[in-house]
Amino acid sequence: MLLLALVLVGCVYALVSPATSSTADTNVSSQAAAGKAIFETNCSSCHGMNGEGTTQGPSLAGVGSASVDFQMGTGRMPMARPEAQAPSKRTAFTDEEIAQVAAYIASLAPGPSIPDSEQYTATGLSAEEIARGGELFRTNCSACHAIDGRGGALPNGSYAPSLLKTSDKHIYEAMRTGPQQMPVFSKGAMTDQDVKEIIAYLSTIHSEPNDGGFALGGLGPISEGLWAWIIGIGACVVVAVWLAKKGARAR
Ligand code: HEC
Ligand code: HEC
Repeated sequence: MLLLALVLVGCVYALVSPATSSTADTNVSSQAAAGKAIFETNCSSCHGMNGEGTTQGPSLAGVGSASVDFQMGTGRMPMARPEAQAPSKRTAFTDEEIAQVAAYIASLAPGPSIPDSEQYTATGLSAEEIARGGELFRTNCSACHAIDGRGGALPNGSYAPSLLKTSDKHIYEAMRTGPQQMPVFSKGAMTDQDVKEIIAYLSTIHSEPNDGGFALGGLGPISEGLWAWIIGIGACVVVAVWLAKKGARAR
């Protein structure tokens, strides 16, 4: 009788309890489980079996799905050698696999999540908004990425990459997650509208035709000033020396 009662209670419980977990939850957790498997084979050697970090790579708790989507989507991760700056290259993973790993890392601790397309799609912005994006870019980004986003060298052998070929989504994610030496631009410092204006500015200057002449690395007044110094003042010196020589001979 006791056994029968126990079995009965068990059956009733089994019938009632699964109703509490929704299908959305199981979808998310099965995505994260698939991501964990991919993570263990490709990433755990540097980031640890549970993303806790090792001497070869940092802890991934709290970096968020946006960071994973950026690092894997731009082909930076998995890294080949932990010591050098990971270059961006074609990724070997499908979008689905990246989403799975991102879901797994996001399940470890909360962090910035992958943006929806309306958060970074910058079509239909007015000329004023694009100009404001240019202002924001020159104030916050051009020190490292150069005035036209073509990138530049940084101390200790690292570099800020060119932004010519970066997708809008990856620009958004890079700003929110701050890879390597790049600072994090959180929503408090820069709203989604600010980010959109920067994206619109970059796509505008990158689709502009070159009207000829030397771009001089796009460094703006620095290289133009250097050019004026060397060629302009250099030419003056040459002329002055020539005049002096001629003058002496004449005497
Ligand atoms: C050879 C070692 C190595 C492997 C393998 C590797 N990583 Fe990394 N990872 C690093 C190092 C070192 C850094 C920190 C430097 C950097 O960001 O470039 C890093 C940084 C990251 C970051 C950025 C963390 C942050 O603070 O925003 C993410 C996300 C990441 N890795 C995910 C992955 C994923 C996902 C994989 C597997 C597909 C992977 N990594 C494989 C070494 C590795
Ligand atoms: C202190 C220097 C610094 C500043 C300021 C900076 N960045 Fe970066 N940025 C970097 C570095 C370094 C990387 C490369 C990180 C890596 O390889 O992991 C990078 C990478 C990026 C990437 C990824 C490019 C790609 O194709 O993979 C984007 C997009 C980007 N930055 C946008 C911006 C924007 C927009 C701003 C201004 C709001 C900005 N950055 C400000 C240093 C900087």
